[in-house]
Amino acid sequence: MMNPSSPDEATRRRAVAAAVALTANTALAPLRYEQQLLACYQVGELTIDEVLALLQTSVYHVLYHSRTTLGLILADVEALVDWSRHYNAQHQLTGLLLYSDERFVQVVEGEETAVRALFARIQQDARHTQVVTLSEGPGPQRWFADWSMAWGQVAPVELDQVLGTLEANTSVPLAITDPRLQTLLQAFGLANSDSE
Ligand SMILES: Cc1cc2nc3c(=O)[nH]c(=O)nc-3n(C[C@H](O)[C@H](O)[C@H](O)COP(=O)(O)O)c2cc1C
Repeated sequence: MMNPSSPDEATRRRAVAAAVALTANTALAPLRYEQQLLACYQVGELTIDEVLALLQTSVYHVLYHSRTTLGLILADVEALVDWSRHYNAQHQLTGLLLYSDERFVQVVEGEETAVRALFARIQQDARHTQVVTLSEGPGPQRWFADWSMAWGQVAPVELDQVLGTLEANTSVPLAITDPRLQTLLQAFGLANSDSE
C-alpha cells in the first residue's frame, strides 16, 4: 500500500474529492459501488491502482420488474428462457428471471456494454410492459454466475414482499422461503437472518 501521507497521494485524494463533488447530480457521478471504492481510497484502505483494478473487473447489472402482456402463457415464458440461455451463454451474461402471476423480475449481469445492449432490447419486447428499473450499475461480483439465466415461478405473495423490500431498499424481517428470492435479496444486500 502507498504511504497515505506522501504529498502525491494527498494531492490525489484532494483531486478525487473535488472530482466527486463536481460530478454530483450529473451522469458522471460515481455509482454506489464506485463510491464505496473511492471511500476506501480516501481513508487509505485501497490504493488508486487497486481501485482501478477492482473497477475493471467489476460486473455490471440491471434489475427490473415488469408486467406480462395479455395472453402470455407459461409455454411462452419457457421458450423465452430457452432463447435467453443460448444468447446469454454466448455473451457471458448471467442472471435470474422470476415469473409470477403476470409479472417478471429479472437480473442480468455481465460486461457493461453487453448488459446495456440486451436491456435496450428487453425494454422494447412486446411480451411485457411497464418495465421499471430498480437497480443498475457496477458491483464487485456475479451473483448468478452458474446460470446463463436461472428461472422459476415464485409465489406472488413472496414476490410482492421482495419487490417492496427492493423498492424501499430496506431490510425488513421477511419469511422468504424461496431460495432464488433469498439470493436476490442477498445480491442487493437486503437479506437478513430471518430470511436465511
Ligand atoms: C422478461 C423478458 C426477459 C428477457 N430476457 C432475455 C435474456 O436474458 N436474454 C436474451 O437474449 N433475451 C431476453 N429476452 C428477449 C429479448 O427481449 C429479445 O427478444 C431478444 O434479445 C431478441 O432480440 P430482437 O427481438 O431484437 O432480435 C427477454 C424478454 C423478456 C420479455
